[in-house]
Amino acid sequence: MNDFDEVIDRQHGNAEKYTLRKQLFGTEDVLPMWVADMDIKTPYFVTEAVAKRAGEAIYGYEEMSDSAFEAQIAWMDREHDFTIEREWMSYSPSVVATINLAIQAFTRPGEKVIYQPPVYAPFFKSIANNERELVSNPLRCDEQGDYHFDFDDLRMKIDKDTKLLLLCSPHNPVGRVWREEELRELADVCLEHDIKVLSDEIHSDLVYRPHRHIPFASLSDAIRDITITAIGPGKTFNVAGLSISTVVIADETMRQQFETLSKRIHFAEGTVFGHVGFEAAYRDGRVWREALMEHLLVNVQKLEAVVQKHSDKITMRIPEGTYLAWMDCSKMGLSDKALKGFFVEKAGLGLSPGILFGREGKGYMRLNFAVPSATMDRALLQLDAALDDL
Ligand SMILES: Cc1ncc(COP(=O)(O)O)c(C=O)c1O
Repeated sequence: MNDFDEVIDRQHGNAEKYTLRKQLFGTEDVLPMWVADMDIKTPYFVTEAVAKRAGEAIYGYEEMSDSAFEAQIAWMDREHDFTIEREWMSYSPSVVATINLAIQAFTRPGEKVIYQPPVYAPFFKSIANNERELVSNPLRCDEQGDYHFDFDDLRMKIDKDTKLLLLCSPHNPVGRVWREEELRELADVCLEHDIKVLSDEIHSDLVYRPHRHIPFASLSDAIRDITITAIGPGKTFNVAGLSISTVVIADETMRQQFETLSKRIHFAEGTVFGHVGFEAAYRDGRVWREALMEHLLVNVQKLEAVVQKHSDKITMRIPEGTYLAWMDCSKMGLSDKALKGFFVEKAGLGLSPGILFGREGKGYMRLNFAVPSATMDRALLQLDAALDDL
């Protein structure tokens, strides 16, 4: 059995995916395929590094080591052709924290921040929570179900108070890996209007061939100098619980603005286990990640086969990146409440309703397929049977 097929019992621990089932779905009797962590084992080279550190006697204050940053720098260079200098980088406990801090550092209350729904909810919640004005620039979905930036809408909505754009790249939940020409056009608009870009690239290592992730800041020096890049091992190596990510800001003034705030809040330097897990992931993770991607692709292809069988009810595109399937269930003709109810009660699956990603997600459901094969097969049997009966 390979590492990706071992079923780990998470029901008796604190895994949020499981503990929140009753609250979210009204029952514990669902296979939870919602929040974006994996039911796949964290790789052995990470757990071994953490176990070794756990055996050392003192867990006092620690700085994140240069060697940890260097491991990520080497990874970004090799995997994404993105050259990062050590001094551009800092620690952040989470990408969502980085988003909030960037909003505070680079905009003032009442100023406008652009987001592109349907999108990971903390994007728009962070704008609202920080009392900035939300500017929605929805992605455009074409007849094939592919999503695109809507540049006409974007240009129309920008005014002098628009200061920041939150880019999700690759995009959760629609699974797009943005192509170079799309990113360049987006960058041109932002450069022209003096808009900074927070590029959330947490899913950047979860991209299916032949697609290729292009770091927004790698496009040109000018683009790099308006960009805050948020990256981390949380999704790829299933270490969200280690609370570690990094922020890359090349422009010195912007970096100082950001760091002043992060010091004020006291992000500090993270946990002793986070540091070693992070370093091991980026240092030793290459082969494991490639095998993971093969496993994920098989899972999503199986899902696609079931969805195709029921194409009168559900349609989906295989995502270009992420382990999240964005399923268009609008042909089922159900309200969002009834749709969620169908998946919970008839299919026994706890998924994320599309509406949580903005009103553009109405009629969709998001399914996390980062699970062992046996779990995937069980989920698909349940889904197939429920759709047969509908
Ligand atoms: C696009 C995106 N950004 C950020 C996060 C969360 O990152 P963190 O746990 O580092 O805050 C997620 C988790 O699903 C995500 O999908």
